[in-house]
Amino acid sequence: MLTAEDNAQLTRVGPGTLIGDLMRQYWIPVVLSSELAPGGRVKRVRILGEDLVAFRGPSGRVGLLGEFCSHRRASLYFGRNEEPGLRCVYHGWQYEPSGRCIDMPNERPESSFQDKIVHPAYPCAERGGVVWTYMGPASVPPGLPELEWTLVPQAQRFVSKFWQDCNYLQALEGGVDPAHISFLHGILDAADDGLRRALDRAAAGFGFASQLERTPHIEVAETETGLLIGARREAPAGQYYWRITRYLLPFHTMPPPEVGSDPVLHSHVWIPIDDDHLVNWCISWHPTRALTEDEQAEFRAGSSIHAMEYAPATSEAYGDIRPIASRSNDYLADWEAQRTRKFFGVPGVGVQDKAITESQGRYDRSLEHLGRADVGIIRVRKCLLDAAIALRTRRVPPPGLDPASYRVRPASVLLPKEAPWV
Ligand code: FES
Ligand SMILES: [Fe+2]
Repeated sequence: MLTAEDNAQLTRVGPGTLIGDLMRQYWIPVVLSSELAPGGRVKRVRILGEDLVAFRGPSGRVGLLGEFCSHRRASLYFGRNEEPGLRCVYHGWQYEPSGRCIDMPNERPESSFQDKIVHPAYPCAERGGVVWTYMGPASVPPGLPELEWTLVPQAQRFVSKFWQDCNYLQALEGGVDPAHISFLHGILDAADDGLRRALDRAAAGFGFASQLERTPHIEVAETETGLLIGARREAPAGQYYWRITRYLLPFHTMPPPEVGSDPVLHSHVWIPIDDDHLVNWCISWHPTRALTEDEQAEFRAGSSIHAMEYAPATSEAYGDIRPIASRSNDYLADWEAQRTRKFFGVPGVGVQDKAITESQGRYDRSLEHLGRADVGIIRVRKCLLDAAIALRTRRVPPPGLDPASYRVRPASVLLPKEAPWV
C-alpha cells in the first residue's frame, strides 16, 4: 500500500514531476528506425506528456521537435520534410533538428527575430533498430544503454510495441511480478495447443512456467542499476529452480526465459505516453544466433510477449499500434475457454497482461493490500522513489548512467540448494 501522495508522485510523468524528471535522465525509445524514411512522412509521438514530431530528413538525420510551431502553434506534423530541417506549412518557418529556427520567410530578410527562437527539440540516436531520445537537462547526454538486444545483429532480435490504456507503473509492475504467471497466463488443461508446444520445448523437464508451483519463494537483491527478483521453487536432486527477473532503472524489465538449452530472451520497455497511457515495447533476442524462421513467424503472429494485431492506423501519436483487443470488446475473451481450459480466457500473453493491467483503472495504491508475493513490486517502487528523491533533493545522479551497467541478462537456472542465487 502507498500513501495517496506517493501514488501520485510515482505515477505522474510530465515535465517537472518527480518521476518525469527521473525518466528524463535516461535514453527513451521513440519509434523503430524503419518507421522513418529519409525525407518521408513526419510521425506524431507523445512521450512523458509532451507532444512531439519525429522525422528523418532527406540526408538521413533523425529529428524530434515539439509538435507545435513556435510561431503560432500550427502542427509540424503537416510540415515539409526539407533539408536541413522541418518547415511549417503555415508561414514557412523552418527548424533544424537542434531546434534552431533557420528560416523565417514571412519576416523581412534583415530581421534578427529568428535568432531569438528556441524551438523544443531533443537529441536522437539510433541503436538496435530503434530511435532513442534524451529529454533531460544535460548538455552532453550519457551514452546509450548497452542493452544486449540493441547490440546483437538485426537477425538476432525481434522488436514490437503496442499501446496500453493505463499508467506506465501498473504495466511495469506486471513485469516484475513472478507470482502472476501461473494464474493469469496459466492453463487448466495442459493439452492447450500453444502451451503444449512450450511444454514440449522445455527440455529440462520442468514444464512451462505457468504450470509450476504457484507459491514460489521470492527474494530480491539490489544491483548497480536496479533489482534482481528471484522466484525459487523445489527441484529434483537437492536443487532449487530459480527464475530470475531483471529490473533496470527506470523502465526496463526482463522476464526469466523458458527453461531449456537454447532459450530466446525477452525484455519490455515501459514508456509513458502520458499519465494514462504507455507504449509497451516488447523485445525478443538471442545472444548468439539468428532467430529461426519459426521463432520469427511466432512473434509476428503475436505469440510470446508480442501483440501484433492492430486496429486500423491513425496518424495520432502511436495511433498505429493500438491492439484490436481492447476494453470495448472484452479483449476478445473466449469465456468458454476460461470456463474449461484456461485460467483467463483472453488469447495471447501480451494481451492478457494488457487486459488485466488496464482493468486496474486509475490504480489507487492506497486501497491495495500487498502480501509476501508482492515483494518485487514493493522494491521497484522504492527503487524509483529513492532515485527520484535523491536526484530532486540532493542532485545525486541516478543509477544506470553508465551504459555498460545494462549489459545483463535474466536467467532460469537449477542450483544446488546451498548455492547463493545472486
Ligand atoms: S505557425 Fe508555423 S510558421 Fe506560422
Ligand atoms: Fe504477464
